[in-house]
Amino acid sequence: MTRVFPFFRASLAGLLTAAALISPGIAGSAEAELDMDLMQTIEDLNKSLASNIALRDAKGSRSDASELHQLFIQVEGHFAAKPDAQDAVDLAKKSKDLSAAIVQHVGRGDFEAATDAATGISRACRSCHTFYKKS
Ligand code: HEC
Repeated sequence: MTRVFPFFRASLAGLLTAAALISPGIAGSAEAELDMDLMQTIEDLNKSLASNIALRDAKGSRSDASELHQLFIQVEGHFAAKPDAQDAVDLAKKSKDLSAAIVQHVGRGDFEAATDAATGISRACRSCHTFYKKS
């Protein structure tokens, strides 16, 4: 967990991440709804990542991107357990791969490529919500 953003947010996100990790059924049950805390954490991390990339903060960007990578593994698992959700599995996988790529890009100091990859992630959020988010 990065300490780049304020302590309150960092600890809140940490709690949510911990809750998401220990809550059963995320990847286990085909009937399980997607954990809203998980999505909210993804939203917060995605915003933090965008600003850290804009600030060329390599440490913060790497930390956010690797957490997003972990969370998209859970999202991928969630949709993989559902019937007829192959597009969502693909979008989660794409987001997972793009967040891993961002870790590599910022490691090389290539914030241009990191920005492109982050744009790709935000596109994948919207695509998935268009088809799979009910409200
Ligand atoms: C693979 C599909 C998928 C991807 C990718 C995805 N989401 Fe979601 N997201 C969902 C679904 C499905 C819901 C709503 C679940 C429901 O309605 O049961 C949701 C809900 C949300 C919510 C609402 C949470 C709440 O508390 O109401 C937010 C915020 C959110 N997503 C942000 C994001 C952001 C930001 C990204 C990208 C960084 C992202 N999501 C990527 C599928 C996805």
